[in-house]
Formats: sequence, structure tokens, C-alpha cells
Amino acid sequence: MTGAPRHTARYTASNAAGHPDGRLSTPVYARNFPPVVAALAPWLGGRHGTVLEIGCGTGQHGASFALAFPCLDWWPSDPDAGHRSSARAWAAELGAPDRPALALDAASDWAQDPAVQALGPLTAVVAMNVIHIAPSVVASGILAGAAQRLAPGGLMIFYGPFLESGHPTAPGNASFDAALRADHPDWGLREVGAVRREAAAPGLEFAGLIAMPANNRLLILRQPA
Ligand SMILES: C[S@@+](CC[C@H](N)C(=O)[O-])C[C@H]1O[C@@H](n2cnc3c(N)ncnc32)[C@H](O)[C@@H]1O
Repeated sequence: MTGAPRHTARYTASNAAGHPDGRLSTPVYARNFPPVVAALAPWLGGRHGTVLEIGCGTGQHGASFALAFPCLDWWPSDPDAGHRSSARAWAAELGAPDRPALALDAASDWAQDPAVQALGPLTAVVAMNVIHIAPSVVASGILAGAAQRLAPGGLMIFYGPFLESGHPTAPGNASFDAALRADHPDWGLREVGAVRREAAAPGLEFAGLIAMPANNRLLILRQPA
């Protein structure tokens, strides 16, 4: 491969609109958020407790989820300091509770991180647009950590593009998958069945697969009650 990778999981002022207060904005938020919050309302509405968001990116989703589900205490996290600053600035801008994003690498044993343990048993772990744009150890780490930290009945929620029965769900996803793998051989769309199987090993059960706009999916797993 020559030159810079075409795909990156890192937002900066060069690929996302920057605001003087540190907020970063991408067009992805406006496209994703309304249908995702509507689809998650039956799953998260009425629940109480703490949600840990892995790979919060700009943090605009997380601050908006916090407002949409006020009974939940929504904690963003991201390994990138610029993303964490942006998430805090978005919470201030939107009037969401101030929950400084945790510095978490999902490929690590993050469930043992004291900052995570201080949150107590989790109502949900949410990872949006993360596992295809990161090495496979990130998906594995998210599942392993969620299985340790989710409360009984707690939800592991993935959002993004997936493969189903080994195939992309749309031609656009096939070319996206190929481009990701060309840049980073261990990135790429994850297979729903493989994620389900890996989740089952530490005991997470399948709860739902929801088709979303633009050939994305919500994959929902559950800690047994
Ligand atoms: C494409 S962005 C998605 C951001 C946001 N969730 C969204 O939907 O707009 C991918 C995110 O995954 C994060 N990420 C990459 N590697 C990670 C890791 N090892 N652990 C946790 N997050 C990671 C990046 O920092 C980035 O915020």
C-alpha cells in the first residue's frame, strides 16, 4: 500500500467540521441518529442505569442519546483525546449531563479498568460504527468486556454495516468492505453469525437484528437475566 490510508477511525479538523469549543461534526450524525434512536426506543426506553458507549467519536450521538433517554446515565469513551474533548463539548452544547469520556481501548481488558468498574453493572454497552473500522481484536474485546460488566438482562448493542451469511447486505457495503480491507487487512465488515458465536462463548445471547437505513444493522445481544 502506498500513501495514506483512505479510511481512518479518527476524526480531526481535517476530516470533520471543527468548532472553536472542540466539538467535531460529521454528516454521519444527521443521517444516523433519528432512525437509530427510534429503533432503540423499545429496547432502552424505560430502562434505568448506566450505558457505556465504546468508540464515541465526536460524541454527538452520545450527548443526544443522553437527552433522548434521560433515565439512562450515558458515559462515552474513546481512545482518542480529541474525540473525548469533542464529546464533552457536545454535552455542554446540547445541555446533556457532563460525563467526561473515558479513555478506553476496547482491545484491552477494559472491564478491569477502575473507571469502568466505578460505573457499576452496566445497563447497556453501545458501539456504533466501530467494529468494522478497527482490528478484529476490538470486536472481541468489546464482547469480552461487555460479558463481564453487563448487569443481568443488560444489552450489548452494535450499529453499523455487517455481513450476513458471509455476504455484504448491499453492493455499496461490498465495496466499502473491500476498501477497508485494502487499507487495513484486519479491518472490514464483521459477520453477524460470527459475532453471535463469539458473543455466545462468554454467555451473551442473541436478542435482535434490526435492518436500518443505508443497509446498516442494529445487532443486539443480551446478558441472560
Ligand atoms: C467511525 S468512528 C465512529 C464514531 C461514532 N461511534 C459514530 O458512530 O459516529 C470509529 C470510532 O472507533 C474508535 N475506535 C477505534 N479503535 C478503537 C479501540 N481500539 N477501542 C475503542 N474505540 C476505538 C475511534 O476512535 C472512533 O471514535
